[in-house]
Order: sequence, then structure tokens, then C-alpha cells
Amino acid sequence: MAYGAEDCARARLDFPALQVARGGSTLAYLDGPGGTQVPEAVIEAIRDVYVRCNVNTHGSFEPSREVDRRMLAARAAIASFLGAPHESCISFGQNMTTLNYALSGAIGRTLAAGDEVLITELDHESNRGPWLRLSERGVVVREVRLQPHGELDLGDLAGKLTPRTKLLALGGSSNALGTVNDLALARRLTREVGALLVIDAVHYAPHFPLDVAALGADFLLCSGYKFYAPHVGILYSAPGALARLPTDRLRTQDAEPPYRIETGTLNHAAIAGVQAAIEYLAGWGRGESLRARVLDAMTGIAAYEHGLAKFFYDEVGGVPGVTRWGPGFDSSARAPTVSITLRDHSPGAAALALGARNLCVWNGDFYAAKAVEVLGLAGRGGLLRTGISMYNTRAEIIRLLEAIESL
Ligand SMILES: Cc1ncc(COP(=O)(O)O)c(C=O)c1O
Repeated sequence: MAYGAEDCARARLDFPALQVARGGSTLAYLDGPGGTQVPEAVIEAIRDVYVRCNVNTHGSFEPSREVDRRMLAARAAIASFLGAPHESCISFGQNMTTLNYALSGAIGRTLAAGDEVLITELDHESNRGPWLRLSERGVVVREVRLQPHGELDLGDLAGKLTPRTKLLALGGSSNALGTVNDLALARRLTREVGALLVIDAVHYAPHFPLDVAALGADFLLCSGYKFYAPHVGILYSAPGALARLPTDRLRTQDAEPPYRIETGTLNHAAIAGVQAAIEYLAGWGRGESLRARVLDAMTGIAAYEHGLAKFFYDEVGGVPGVTRWGPGFDSSARAPTVSITLRDHSPGAAALALGARNLCVWNGDFYAAKAVEVLGLAGRGGLLRTGISMYNTRAEIIRLLEAIESL
């Protein structure tokens, strides 16, 4: 189903935060890569857990059985969102970073000194730091080069994948530059050498339909607050992949997937909110099943966001003193995230000036610190980043463009 400006206008009414005015104007939330606002349905789902089943799981009384059912339903909804075959493939954690540390620690225990792990210069630190840490165990961590135009050097990727490589940790899309990586190629090359593929889909999941089964990922991580849900980290593990791992866990903890990597009590209300966000997104699509509606909705939303981001990218390119970073918008494989620098203003000063006009954009390295270093921007305050989400309008982009021009 197409998702257009009229749909966006209707969707905006579903997000209470978008109705709040501060200092005389409404806020233009153009900071989706940092985190999105939530629709009323998500707020209601969180509230409902606190009203009906704010108890622990696996008890012998009805509210506990209810929270058990809700957690299972949430896992099933996320499985539909990601294209996972079963709810047992879906584990939860505090956020993506925490889950990735748990995952890398467990995988690290299966590696020997001299084994190699491949990361990239483009990735967010959360998909670098946990793997770099394995060098303390004698694991050799190598990095795929980032090229100046914002794409990974695929020749370097192919060259650094050798029979010693046990794992490639790769982002689906860059939260700093909007680059979309060739995941199919990564899967083919990792299979050739028998390496695991771990995908950071935190910036990919809000903007593209996902099909983990087709991607063939061994593990994929994403984070609810980037797709209109609360702060919950999500780990997809391919069937059988988690069951083999020596995770950190208490002897009292369930050793079966998906629980095997989930330490302590989960945030049940937030997890129910993730399910509500997925059902909300699916409401913008057509189809018989939740999976079909999600795919249809995400396809429409992706095209809408892409069009708006391309409009901004094209227009801002014409503003004197503006440099655009990251790949262009010729291909649809480009996230709707546009980073620029200004000749006469640091990213921090520009973000402050825009923030004063209720234009919420982000500045700095957004934890994609290595990429910003490679681009030579680390000592210059990094980048000024605009992210497009399903609720952003052309009018907001024009407001932003006018403000940038006036700077
Ligand atoms: C691409 C990417 N990966 C990982 C993360 C980390 O996610 P979390 O905050 O859930 O740990 C972020 C957060 O901004 C991100 O943008």
C-alpha cells in the first residue's frame, strides 16, 4: 500500500508528542536515528500492562499467566516484523548494546587465540566495541575500510574474509551516513569461509522491510525505540544458533532459547509496547497476516521517507557552504538519513541554532565515531544529521531548509 502525504498527516494525529507546542511552534522531530516518538497505541499498551498484569512471569495466578501470554505474543509479533520463523528466535535485553556485549562474550568463549573477527569502520560503536574486546582473548579483530563517499570497500571486505574469519559483524545501515550495506553479498562471502554473520539492524529496521530468514543472518539486533516503540533491545537468533552458545546465565535461568541470553527480569510493559508499535505499523499495510501487513506497510513507508529525504538531500546541496556526506539517493538502498557540514558553523553551533527554532536534529558522531574519524571530521565536531521518519512532512523539511539557509 502506498504511504503518502495524506497518510502521514493522519499518522501524525496518532502521536501525542507531535501535538505538543513549545515556545509557540510545534516540534519538528527530525532525530529519528536517535530515537522516535511513540503512537498513542504504544502508550496505551504500556499502561494496560501496569493495570492488568504488572506481576512476574510463570506464576500460578491469572495476572501472571496473562503476562506470560503477552510476552509470547510480543515475541511472535516481533518474529513477524523481522521475518523470523518462530517466536523462540526472539530474545530481549535492555538495549542493543547490552545484548551485543552478551552475544559477543558468549561467542568469544567459543573462539581460540588467532581466530579472526571482522568488523567495519562504518559501524556504530555498539557493533565494534563488543567485538574489539575479544582481542583481550587473543582473537584478531580486523576492520573493513570505509571509503570517503561513505560506502564500505567491498574488495577489502572480500580480501579480509579468510578461513580464519569466524564472524563478520556488519551494520544493515549506517546511522551517521545512511549507507545501506550489501547484506546479501556479506552473507555469500561469509558462507564461503564458514563465518557467522551478525547484523546490526538498529538503523535498518525502522526504514526497510526486513526478512531475516532470506538474509540468512545468524544473529540480528535491533532496538525498539528506533521504530516507534519503547527502549527494548531485540536479538534475533537463527534456529539453533543461540542454543549452542555459552551465554552468561544463572543456574536458575532457563537455558533454552530465547531465554538463554536474557538475564534478570524483563521490562514487560515496554515489550508489550514493542508489540503495539509493530501492530500500529502493520495498520498502514494490507494483507491477510500480520507479516504481510508489516511488509506492505514498511515498503510504503520506506518509499515515502526516501522521497522526502531525497528532496532534502537535493535542496540542501544547493545551499552555499553546505557539504553533504554519505552516498547519494540514486538507489533505493539508501536510508533517509542525511548528514551535512556547514562551512561557517560547527555542527554543534548549527544544531543549537536549529534547536532554538524547534527543529530537532542531532550533531556529533552519533557513536559512529570511527566513521567520523575516517572522514576526517572528528576534530571538527562531526556531522549535522537529519533523519526522516514516517511522521515527518515536506513542510518540516522546508522549515529546516529555510533555517539552514538563514544560517
Ligand atoms: C546503528 C546503531 N546501532 C546500534 C545502536 C545502539 O542501540 P542501543 O541504544 O539500543 O544500544 C544505535 C543507537 O543509536 C544505532 O544507531
